[in-house]
Amino acid sequence: MMFDLKWWQKAVFYQIYPRSFADANSDGIGDLEGIIQRLDYLQDLGVDALWLSPHYPSPLVDCGYDVADYTAVAPEYGDLATFQRFVDEAHRREMRVILDLVLNHTSDQHPWFIESRSGRDNPRRDWYIWRDGRAGGPPNNWYSTFGGPAWSYDPHTGQYYYHFFFREQPDLNWRNPAVKQAMFQAMRFWLDRGVDGFRLDAVGTIFEEPGWPDHPATITQAELGRLWRDATTEAERKIAQAEWETMFKHQVEQPGIHELMQELRALVDAYGDRVLVGESEQIAYHGDGDNELHLVFNFPLMNSARLTPAAIRANQQARLAELPPAAWPCNTLGNHDSSRMYNRYGDGRHDAALARLHLALLLTLRGTPFLYNGEEIGMTDLYLTDRSHFRDSVAHWTYEAAVGEWGMTAAEALALAAEASRDRCRTPMQWANAPNAGFSPAGVTTWLPVNPNYAQGVNVAEQAADPDSLLNTYRRLLRLRQETPALVTGDYTPLCEEAEEYLIYLRHSPADNQTCLVALNFSDRRQEVTLDLGGRRLRPLFASHAHTQGEEGAVRLPLAPFAVYVGEVGQD
Ligand code: GLC
Repeated sequence: MMFDLKWWQKAVFYQIYPRSFADANSDGIGDLEGIIQRLDYLQDLGVDALWLSPHYPSPLVDCGYDVADYTAVAPEYGDLATFQRFVDEAHRREMRVILDLVLNHTSDQHPWFIESRSGRDNPRRDWYIWRDGRAGGPPNNWYSTFGGPAWSYDPHTGQYYYHFFFREQPDLNWRNPAVKQAMFQAMRFWLDRGVDGFRLDAVGTIFEEPGWPDHPATITQAELGRLWRDATTEAERKIAQAEWETMFKHQVEQPGIHELMQELRALVDAYGDRVLVGESEQIAYHGDGDNELHLVFNFPLMNSARLTPAAIRANQQARLAELPPAAWPCNTLGNHDSSRMYNRYGDGRHDAALARLHLALLLTLRGTPFLYNGEEIGMTDLYLTDRSHFRDSVAHWTYEAAVGEWGMTAAEALALAAEASRDRCRTPMQWANAPNAGFSPAGVTTWLPVNPNYAQGVNVAEQAADPDSLLNTYRRLLRLRQETPALVTGDYTPLCEEAEEYLIYLRHSPADNQTCLVALNFSDRRQEVTLDLGGRRLRPLFASHAHTQGEEGAVRLPLAPFAVYVGEVGQD
């Protein structure tokens, strides 16, 4: 029953990228005050919990995922008092708040690392991972996932330090108990201020294989990059994925990680009803279902080469079967690292209809949905065309490697960098058809360029006034979910499993005495569906298209192109 579920099982989460959400002090950068001013908007949208991407002081080599102080607020976002007001104001509106916690690494500007690199005898030397080189080079052949070697040489102390991400993001040594205690303290600092949990960044990368053996991959990182870029089919992606796993096999999912997750779980459990969400797709992070992370993301769904009805059914079948009984699923179709869902699942002709369809999917599958700011108005990727506009270091790295090592022309390198760059999905939120999309006042230069399509209806103010807008579809579908227990608590049973162009499933909740039927037409063709519901009737709860429904014996359910239909199955 709805009543028996935890808040994070019932909630719809909304990710706020603070730099790009709302700029209250007109400096071109989003801030906490801006978020506070938009809490009414979020409440009215109908989301229940907010995930705040990193708000900590940072030199921004990785846009905040390089933390220089775990117990403070970046000055451009506000201060602790504003942070507290943000949490309190969200709670007053019955919205929960979770923070992003970067466990694997700090910024190289964090005082811990500055001390650590200051001398081999420094008490914090062992807080990071230092090794002697081998034959005039790094300690082994490992790569950084962002490109280049995973080791950087520090001439001052004559050793190398390890970094899974950029060289400015040195890995913490989690096998050192003092590191653990310091990070646990940071978690308590925020829990004491009332936050409702954490999204744990890059959990798989926290430990390394203790013997530091070479990886056995037979291709280079550049060759792997090409495999990824050229992969169009699911089979090709699987090959690239397998190569990635070989290359990084000693750097991810290593012994000790699940014990650490259990410790983190015990830490937050001591505060009562809090949540831990892991940035991982690995079911293993649920532990026994109730002793590690509460949620991990169903990334395989979001990353399907094509999100077809068959792919969705296969994903659900595999995922739901794999979950331990006490564990709860969690779905998302976009975040600050991915392409915008409006692009990714659009076909260039029916994008608005497809956006509605994919939202309906996300909100009616079994599990907690995570939305990403801006998707509710159909924000799209912005491909930057001026190198000086890039803010994501991945773009700079890609450009330089493309020109310097891969033999591309400047124009080709720029196009590749624009595509690799995560800047494309991080542009400022489009609040109105006004200069700077109403994010910052006219004349202000925003930290990333604003997508000009705010002037073509992709903005909150105009969509709020249009009953048929994507924004109002979000509102309606979010309300529907809130008011329909079976969509939250019900089990999942696929129907018409042979259908290639449409997807139909039941969500049945015995405890709430409710069964819903969800029908999604993924094609541009009308579908004539006939369902045998054992003589029971179907009452529409949401229908994107007006339609007549026959009920002689079997239920006839005609589906217009890209139709979304949610109905309640009657008792008799
Ligand atoms: C996670 C974050 C990503 C960041 C990386 C390193 O994948 O989502 O934005 O670059 O971790 O912290």
